Amino acid sequence: MKIAPSLLAFDFANIERQMSEIEKYADWLHYDVMDGHFVPNISFGPDILKDIKKTTKLFIDVHLMISDPYAYLDRFIEAGADLITFHQEAVDNETANKIIDHLKEKGIKVGMSIKPNTDPTALIPYLERLDLVLVMSVEPGFGGQSFLASAYDKIVYYDQFRHEYDLDYLIEVDGGINDKNATSLVECGTDVLVSGSYILKGDIKTNIERLRIK
Ligand code: DX5
Ligand code: ZN
Repeated sequence: MKIAPSLLAFDFANIERQMSEIEKYADWLHYDVMDGHFVPNISFGPDILKDIKKTTKLFIDVHLMISDPYAYLDRFIEAGADLITFHQEAVDNETANKIIDHLKEKGIKVGMSIKPNTDPTALIPYLERLDLVLVMSVEPGFGGQSFLASAYDKIVYYDQFRHEYDLDYLIEVDGGINDKNATSLVECGTDVLVSGSYILKGDIKTNIERLRIK
């Protein structure tokens, strides 16, 4: 399993120190993009990613919580994204396919995400072509929220689906992850744990180790 700390929870006055710890102990860096429209919050765009990319060799996991993901793909690719995940709720079927085609053409990994109230079957038309499915375990928009247990059934659903159809997408979970729920999430089939507040609000090395052991 992989640990993907979320940049959203960084203390930006201490970003250099926190990045160097994350670099040593984490696997991916989770980069949350919010546009104040798809979600009621604004975070960071491609220019900041470009600067971050210069400081890290970690795999860059971009999570687009924006209303028009297609329009921004190239800017995030140029900024150094390794994987780009967009929301099913933000696009129609034609646009979803267009995004997947575009990212595959550019050699960038592609993920799709669902919010807590979206039925997991909404991703069925795309699963065969996805590198990753991102199950949201909080309403997207803010760090530090409580984990919603409804995520478990969705993880089990996507895990069974990939076994049944012999697919190889990864399952990532995002929101409210800590040392209490990490073990059971991995047991259900989660491959990538995103964690912001839990990892960053304390000793980074210890907290990452706790997520791994548990
Ligand atoms: C929420 C973001 C998450 C967030 C997770 O909209 O997608 O990545 O940073 O933060 P915690 O771990 O604090 O819930
Ligand atoms: Zn996220």
